[in-house]
Amino acid sequence: MKNIILGILFSAALIGCSDKQEPTAKPAPEKQIMGNVSAGKAIAERDCKACHGLDGKGVAPGIPHLAAQRERYLLASIKEYKEGKRTHAALKDMMGQMKDADAANVVAYYASLPPIVNAAASDIRHSSVYEEGKALAASCTKCHGEDGNSRTPGTPSLAGQQPHYLVAAIQEYHQGERKTALMQPMSAAATKLQLEKLALYFAAQTPVERPAPSFGDPAAGEPLSAMCGGCHGAHGVSSDATTPSLAGQDPQYLVKSIKAYRTTRQHWGMQRYVAGLSDKDMENIAAFYVVQKPRAADQVPSSTKELAAQCNRCHDVENNPAMVAPKMNGQDKDYLVMSLRSYRDGKRQSSTMHNMSTIYSNAIIESIATWYAGQPAK
Ligand code: HEC
Ligand code: HEC
Ligand code: HEC
Ligand code: HEC
Repeated sequence: MKNIILGILFSAALIGCSDKQEPTAKPAPEKQIMGNVSAGKAIAERDCKACHGLDGKGVAPGIPHLAAQRERYLLASIKEYKEGKRTHAALKDMMGQMKDADAANVVAYYASLPPIVNAAASDIRHSSVYEEGKALAASCTKCHGEDGNSRTPGTPSLAGQQPHYLVAAIQEYHQGERKTALMQPMSAAATKLQLEKLALYFAAQTPVERPAPSFGDPAAGEPLSAMCGGCHGAHGVSSDATTPSLAGQDPQYLVKSIKAYRTTRQHWGMQRYVAGLSDKDMENIAAFYVVQKPRAADQVPSSTKELAAQCNRCHDVENNPAMVAPKMNGQDKDYLVMSLRSYRDGKRQSSTMHNMSTIYSNAIIESIATWYAGQPAK
């Protein structure tokens, strides 16, 4: 499968090149049906109708629509079930017994059908995780600042922070591992999905620079920060999803949390590094990080639409006729959620999709699936 995908990517790259040379030549979407549609219909009637309908509409949530899907993609999926690369047990059995010619015809039948208009498509609210995160954040911003840039001494900024770290931190308050009277009631009500939405919202905000604090000496803190930079980034902008950025953080909060690792806050790495610091050292390091230029965590798209544009580089058939990526507009939402989770969790093989989806939390998956399910199918 890797080779196939590499081959596909490679030919897609070639097409991209020839596109550049002839910008006016827009590739036609594949319309020509290769297999025998009427022979395929007979097979669909006998073997597939119960679940995919004769109109190619999944009869229940979680069953994909096949109507108007790309013929080559459908054929490739059948092959994957056959070879056990996609692990759905019933389909593996069914496809295992199917002759190649029958497979070619049945997919031709489904590909030839007009696309499904999701009955629900018009009802699906295009709410994005960011909008929902913003609504939830209303209860946080009086302390953490409107855009996650705190103006309250002792309260940390959340803007641009690593989203995984934010989720973990809120959970620590939730479970009482980090104790503070202020945060505990805030985190008690949130579900895991809500926490992710909050984290993505704050992570997508732009952090602002801060003036030097009234204590500590940034220049004296710089050499001391050498031992921190390996994890927190040379200038306090972390590139690791579970390690917080420190640049531009609230000064009092920084000192307080460094101290906390010596007493109440548990973490194997941090405890070791801060154990030998004097109070003066801590103030100097904190001052150094406060004045560093903050930058938002990478790879946090700021809207579902922006994310979908990244997906459409491959999934929009008109952009990319040579790539065997499925059409997703108007696909069943539950099926999309399920397949994205399978890629992320390594249960469905695809080097392309696995790499794409590993960074995606359940909240992002929910949001992008809702988006595609609500798009009119072509
Ligand atoms: C018992 C219900 C059932 C029957 C019968 C059935 N399917 Fe499916 N089909 C499913 C489900 C459920 C999935 C999603 C499975 C998964 O998660 O991989 C699926 C997935 C597929 C896919 C992959 C679609 C995609 O977007 O990746 C293809 C292609 C497919 N079926 C073709 C067929 C054909 C052709 C037949 C008849 C020969 C058939 N199926 C019969 C339930 C069924
Ligand atoms: C009443 C003020 C207040 C409210 C409201 C509040 N927080 Fe906090 N938050 C704090 C303070 C103070 C801290 C620092 C606590 C400490 O020292 O551990 C904190 C810490 C945090 C941290 C840890 C940051 C880090 O860098 O480790 C996160 C994450 C966080 N809050 C998220 C939230 C979210 C999400 C909400 C809304 C659901 C919220 N907070 C509501 C005051 C508040
Ligand atoms: C081995 C990697 C590593 C090194 C080295 C390291 N840190 Fe950390 N640091 C972390 C991780 C991971 C966390 C998050 C831990 C947690 O969840 O409590 C963290 C958390 C912190 C926090 C809390 C931030 C917040 O938003 O609550 C501060 C402050 C901090 N580190 C400062 C430092 C300083 C100062 C040094 C150098 C003296 C240092 N760290 C060295 C990995 C490291
Ligand atoms: C580099 C190209 C590429 C990009 C970018 C890409 N995909 Fe894919 N995607 C593919 C390919 C190729 C497949 C078919 C893989 C397979 O056979 O399992 C696929 C399959 C899928 C499927 C399975 C659909 C089905 O019918 O079974 C879903 C869902 C999906 N992608 C969602 C996304 C989302 C959401 C994004 C953006 C966040 C995205 N993809 C970005 C190439 C890509």
